[in-house]
Amino acid sequence: MSSNQLDKKSEAWSALFSEPMSELVKRYTASVFFDQRLWLADITGSLAHAEMLAAQEIISQSDRADIERGLAQIRTEIEAGSFDWKLDLEDVHLNLEARLTQLVGDAGKRLHTGRSRNDQVATDVRLWLRGEIDLIIDLLNELQTALVDVAEKNVEVILPGFTHLQVAQPVSFAHHLLAYVEMFARDVERMSDVRRRTNRLPLGSAALAGTTYPLDRERVARTLGMVDENGVPQVCQNSLDGVSDRDFAIEFSAASALCMVHISRFSEELILWMSQNFSFVKIADRFTTGSSIMPQKKNPDVPELARGKTGRVVGHLVSLITLMKGQPLAYNKDNQEDKEPLFDTVDTLKDTLRIFGEMVGGQPDAKTGKKEGGITVNAQAMEDAAKKGYATATDLADYLVKKGLPFRDAHECVAHAVKAAVSHNCDLSELPLTVLQGFNTSIEKDVYECLSLRGSLNARNTLGGTAPTQVLAQIARHRQRLI
Ligand code: ARG
Repeated sequence: MSSNQLDKKSEAWSALFSEPMSELVKRYTASVFFDQRLWLADITGSLAHAEMLAAQEIISQSDRADIERGLAQIRTEIEAGSFDWKLDLEDVHLNLEARLTQLVGDAGKRLHTGRSRNDQVATDVRLWLRGEIDLIIDLLNELQTALVDVAEKNVEVILPGFTHLQVAQPVSFAHHLLAYVEMFARDVERMSDVRRRTNRLPLGSAALAGTTYPLDRERVARTLGMVDENGVPQVCQNSLDGVSDRDFAIEFSAASALCMVHISRFSEELILWMSQNFSFVKIADRFTTGSSIMPQKKNPDVPELARGKTGRVVGHLVSLITLMKGQPLAYNKDNQEDKEPLFDTVDTLKDTLRIFGEMVGGQPDAKTGKKEGGITVNAQAMEDAAKKGYATATDLADYLVKKGLPFRDAHECVAHAVKAAVSHNCDLSELPLTVLQGFNTSIEKDVYECLSLRGSLNARNTLGGTAPTQVLAQIARHRQRLI
């Protein structure tokens, strides 16, 4: 076969095919216009494979040198945007191999020895995803740092904590933000865990059954950094599983969907907090838009879109898991459909995390390096809201328990007190002592300490509670973790 015979896919197969593919089928089966983004992983995998083939004396050192030279040239062409991607060559793998053969002749044709596109694509996706997971972990850590920065400035700022979106108990705004830090920290744990199972080598599984060549798969794994924390090479141990396993992609997608769900919860709160009825926070203008008809509007488009895009990422998880359902061993073309949902999940998650990091913490000023333009907190509005809704009612019940009342009786007694406060249109702390004593004679002057927002906050001084001492301890812990 001459080197340019590989220009057409039908010719890449074999002489077995008696008719060419129709244009429609070509378009239907091709993946090159989306899987070309795997090109660097494909080259990296090919280099490691060629190095091993030469070390095992399956190809000559001079073939290996030609392959390296050709792949370096291809890399330059792709980076320069001059590489000619051909639909006729179906996917990234055949495009690169054909160009390599054009450039270096027979050595290019030897690269595929002991390899199939089945183990090749599985390797490429894993290599590519591993890099993306690392970027996502960095972005998740940056977002956590931004949240901790804002938290640190707002330890003493009180807002109403809600259950059922009804005022429940006062909490520190920092404490509220740190709840999201916990969620994103778990997202990092999940991503790191998925990374371990992603970082395993399918190459050497060949089409499905392994190969007759004396490949050194562990050598390839080491070259590609597919090793565990002790440097032990991680190689898929069953060739049928190696070519068909996409669990890592599904797991990644699940971890991403959950991370977006966390983002969507935070988005929803930002949207509420920005509304006129709350006015708790402002986000910088560049994350909002105006209305074409209502001049007074500043709409929280970014959080709203993030909330919307969560649906899209959850949808990708459903696509991927459904793609695998019922697939017989080993490789099936269905798996080509894993790319677009996976790519879009990565793009959406990365963009969202980057935007949220900036929206919360601001961007470093060009001159001072100090971060500017993060969220602005309206402490007064938060505190005013906390004063409404009898947020310290539980504190009064706890006060009575400390005076010896059983909790259920205290609960009932406070319900009467709240009813009285409602009819006087005032807060519990504004009821005169004599009125309060009418509900229980053990109530004394010191009750007003526990009815204050700050007193309520300070009283919740157990691990994980909202008392400023606890919150400061958590901030210190996160700081250490996030260095
Ligand atoms: N483009 C294919 C994919 O993404 C590569 C593997 C093709 N293998 C095959 N036997 N047709 O899955």
